[in-house]
Amino acid sequence: MSRRRELCLDSLEQAAQALATSRAAVAFTGAGMSVESGIPDFRSAHGLWRTYPPDEYATMSAFSADPAKVWVMLRAMVGVLSAAEPNPGHQALAQLQRMGRLRRVITQNIDGLHRRAGSVDTIEVHGSTTGLHCPSCTLRDKRASIPTRGVPPCPRCGRAMKPPVVLFEEGLPPGAMGEAMRLADACDLMLVVGTSLAVYPVASLPDLAIRAGATIVEVNTEPGHLRREGAIELAGGAAQVLPLLIERALELAG
Ligand code: APR
Repeated sequence: MSRRRELCLDSLEQAAQALATSRAAVAFTGAGMSVESGIPDFRSAHGLWRTYPPDEYATMSAFSADPAKVWVMLRAMVGVLSAAEPNPGHQALAQLQRMGRLRRVITQNIDGLHRRAGSVDTIEVHGSTTGLHCPSCTLRDKRASIPTRGVPPCPRCGRAMKPPVVLFEEGLPPGAMGEAMRLADACDLMLVVGTSLAVYPVASLPDLAIRAGATIVEVNTEPGHLRREGAIELAGGAAQVLPLLIERALELAG
């Protein structure tokens, strides 16, 4: 049976019609968006947090207490990202934006794959692995590369540096959440792709969109995280579903 047949066609058609008539669509993505690029998500059976429990490896308290231990997780994460390429799901969202039918991508992902697929002005609400950042004196060195070993000292204050990825107990990049909330509040459709909606404040964005009257289309191998009246749930992998959805929406839009 073709991939299209396996998907619930009614839901796919309903979502495509909503996307075809949308005038202010945004996408909100999580780790599931990049699983088909070879990057494990966090909370599924083989997720990163199964190997590196976040309270030990991914909080600012853990980083202050033992930066070398947190760097073990950071290097493992960055190592996986370096081999990853954008998948057809990333490319489909970039195409939708190029066609003028998607305003922006808001992503929780730090892998940079939306940018590499061609999405423009992506909002990376949980930071990225570009450069190094000093949580102590806030120095940011965008050109610095990830060292292969050890904990890089800040050239200004001497304390431990890390990539500018947001750890638990750490604030979001300045302005990112405000911009994301503005987009959620102004959208008429939100594609919610590959996220368990487990982490606030960003997990509140779909509800903000719903309060603004937007249609929600959830793409997830295990949909239902939203459980909101009227949300259209598309069960399947982002790299499979998004190209089908966007191809159909562009057909309908003419
Ligand atoms: N396509 C679509 N969805 C998928 C796929 C796939 N191929 N594979 C997995 N999923 C879904 C899972 O069912 C799950 O709902 O993606 C979601 C991934 O959830 P998490 O692992 O919790 O990742 P995410 O929602 O991005 O986590 C949010 O938590 O740990 C922090 O900072 C981290 O940004 C991250 C945040």
